[in-house]
Amino acid sequence: MSTMESLIGMVNRIQRACTVLGDHGGAEGALPTLWEALPSVAVVGGQSSGKSSVLESIVGRDFLPRGSGIVTRRPLVLQLHKTDDGKPDYAEFLHLQKRRFSDFIVNLTLIDLPGLTKVAVEGQSDNIVQDIENMVRSYVEKPNSIILAISPANQDIATSDAIKLAREVDPSGERTFGVLTKLDLMDKGTNALDVLEGRSYKLQHPWVGVVNRSQADINKSVDMIAARQKEREYFENSPDYSHLASKMGSEYLAKLLSKHLESVIRARIPSITSLINKTVEELESEMNHIGRPIAIDSGAQLYTILELCRAFEKIFKEHLDGGRPGGDR
Ligand code: GDP
Ligand code: NA
Ligand code: MG
Repeated sequence: MSTMESLIGMVNRIQRACTVLGDHGGAEGALPTLWEALPSVAVVGGQSSGKSSVLESIVGRDFLPRGSGIVTRRPLVLQLHKTDDGKPDYAEFLHLQKRRFSDFIVNLTLIDLPGLTKVAVEGQSDNIVQDIENMVRSYVEKPNSIILAISPANQDIATSDAIKLAREVDPSGERTFGVLTKLDLMDKGTNALDVLEGRSYKLQHPWVGVVNRSQADINKSVDMIAARQKEREYFENSPDYSHLASKMGSEYLAKLLSKHLESVIRARIPSITSLINKTVEELESEMNHIGRPIAIDSGAQLYTILELCRAFEKIFKEHLDGGRPGGDR
């Protein structure tokens, strides 16, 4: 495993430990700032645009509530973690501590956000539309957030809520990845080349088109391997998209994200390290604060974070001492 992979793994573990202390890493001290220094990936888009499907296909495994009638009501934070040789890779919902998933290919913290809506439906309060948008915005406006802006190809890109919000919080587009879903559901005789080739709406990173499982596939329990195979074949055999086939699909998107994440972490290592120093100091003084009761669970979590922070520093220092600042892959 390369030093960069160890550091990314460590970043993920620190982030996970921070999350256990509270929604965003506890309310006190350097922990929230530490969380915000570490990159994560959030999916944004309208309801049923394919957000959960995209996250799953990036991971290559079924694990999210997904389907036409299924709505994500609160943000789901999960992690993919690539471990040392011999151990399985796993992802974990941070709010479901006991659930683990193996066989992943990338190192990422992912956030499945509730879908943006345009109108409140029966039984919902009138503020629901704005409330959801504000909550989603609170995640994606943070500079550490890498945005997967999900737009369905069978709707006009000019009406995409995902693009609207992404443009608002990330005007330069440096942390936005445009993902076009449902290419297979476009009207016959039309295609999405204007979007995919950047003519309709230019993004800094290239658009990636994907074909997720349809509702019928889900009903038939088509598995991820079969779905990916079908997606590859779709692009390779499509008269419209075959010339783009190597830059389309979920696997390509996962690789693109992994590479981006790595470059973000590489660039932030100095500031992460100084924050970690600060966090270690704060945690040490908290742990040493005699007479101050700490709940057993959060006490244990503080130790975990402290240890992870020290490990991060150690690996980072070895990395520098080893004189391989550009990474060692
Ligand atoms: P979310 O509400 O944005 O999380 O969307 P889901 O991932 O739950 O997907 C909503 C519905 O659209 C499900 O029935 C999916 O099977 C379907 N769907 C998502 N992406 C695609 C796609 O690329 N092609 C097709 N045919 N159906 C899709
Ligand atoms: Na859904
Ligand atoms: Mg969903």
